[in-house]
Amino acid sequence: LKQLLFKNPNEPPLVFHWFPVLGSTITYGMDPYKFFFSNRAKRQHGDVFTFILLGRKMTVCLDTKGNNFILNGKIKDVNAEEIYNPLSGPVFGKDVVYDCPNSKLMEQKKFVKFGLTQESLRSYVTLITAEVEDFLKRHKDFKGQKGAFNVPKVMAELTIYTASRSLQGEEVRNMFDSRFAALYTDLDMGFSPINFMLPWAPLPHNRKRDVARETMIKVYGDIVRKRRSGAVKKESPDMIWHLMDCKYKDGTQVPDHEIAGIMIALLMAGQHSSSSTIAWILLRLATKPEIIEELLAEQKAILGEDLPSLTYDDLQRLPLHAQVVKETLRLHAPIHSIMRKVKQPLVIDGTNYTVPTSHTLMSSPGVSAQMDEHFPNPAVWDPHRWDAGANNFEGAEDEEKIDYGWGVVSKGTNSPYLPFGAGRHRCIGEQFAYLQLQTILVAFVREFKLKNPGGSRDIVGTDYSSLFSKPLTPGIVEWERRGKEL
Ligand code: HEM
Repeated sequence: LKQLLFKNPNEPPLVFHWFPVLGSTITYGMDPYKFFFSNRAKRQHGDVFTFILLGRKMTVCLDTKGNNFILNGKIKDVNAEEIYNPLSGPVFGKDVVYDCPNSKLMEQKKFVKFGLTQESLRSYVTLITAEVEDFLKRHKDFKGQKGAFNVPKVMAELTIYTASRSLQGEEVRNMFDSRFAALYTDLDMGFSPINFMLPWAPLPHNRKRDVARETMIKVYGDIVRKRRSGAVKKESPDMIWHLMDCKYKDGTQVPDHEIAGIMIALLMAGQHSSSSTIAWILLRLATKPEIIEELLAEQKAILGEDLPSLTYDDLQRLPLHAQVVKETLRLHAPIHSIMRKVKQPLVIDGTNYTVPTSHTLMSSPGVSAQMDEHFPNPAVWDPHRWDAGANNFEGAEDEEKIDYGWGVVSKGTNSPYLPFGAGRHRCIGEQFAYLQLQTILVAFVREFKLKNPGGSRDIVGTDYSSLFSKPLTPGIVEWERRGKEL
């Protein structure tokens, strides 16, 4: 109560609100970007301000300086696990991700990053292509020569198959045809914002979530034991095989329950972000069908008129396909808010403000990605804005680097484009995400022409009701087959 009623003069300005505990919860929750942009436009705020989210004081730091301040913050200053811990244990299980010290998470990220070898990535392109072709053959929405489908819903189904077949291995993939899909849905409820804000509340879905987690941990445990016993042959590499061989710095093997937890975390992290991104890609393309034809022309020009089976190397040779993904992530980054606990009073770079330890820091790299200071006509979805040479924000070669054990990243970042975050918590799934999104995109472009009903150029709104944002459903797109039915 004290922190809600009193404000130290050095604290950032507080967003005006009528109701003390509710604060700005509703306006922020309905559309976080609208909330951030309208507040940064106020003279008394600018890029740094505090608002009340269900009784908590959140200090937002925007634009490149703000992104850098929070995402590249030192471990003694800012902390992620104390914020995300209430979600981690109940969903992923014990001793992984945010249910362990940061040093252990860094080792777990290293295991996963190193597991995404060239050899495995190569095999994933073939496996994902096969899954997409099989899906399009058997899905009821793709019968005949033309039709329509609810993009967000259908893409959520498809990416579960593509991500599980590649990263998770054949046994897990096959279970998604039966019991895993329901378990996944139950577990996913543990990710709802109410679990995050009120982790102590005895919510009705918590029991289902706990049963789902324990069942999944057991299923992964059985897979590992069966593989270790030699009863299953390694036909293609996957993350479970890789984790079974990994050792922590102290020489210990990764215990079975941690392998299970890491696999569940990868499934959730990969599924939410990839399914919403591929849905946005198709929804955006349906507003500009001419780009779909350009993509097909790119494939024909570079890979050959007869469109041979796609390989990993081909993906690196299709720049417009990569630009479509890149531009979609600029406008539709699935993670709109990234939070950190303040570990000691912090002076915010370039200001006189001090954030006390009672505040939570909030970063939103999606804001700088939509600012006209960095991107002309920011609201326009235009994959060509990334044409060769333009807007290369990858960071200078000579920038000071830091090694987190799982990878070397820039010590600071001035980039306004950070859909995969920055610093020690930066995403390790970027390469896999691009591979998966581009492979699905290639398959859709080859098979279909897409357009909005009535040829409209409108796009559906965003659903911000979960921790990952996604397109509102239904998002209906019409398809027409280019050739004969599969
Ligand atoms: C972290 C975005 C796909 C695994 C992150 C972060 C962002 C992000 C913004 C930083 C979070 C923070 O700082 O708190 C995305 C996007 C994706 C994607 C936009 C796809 C379009 C994936 C995939 C995987 C994955 C496919 C798994 C294979 C992870 C992991 C972390 C992470 C393990 C580290 C969390 C931490 O260190 O705290 N991702 N991600 N992501 N992501 Fe991704």
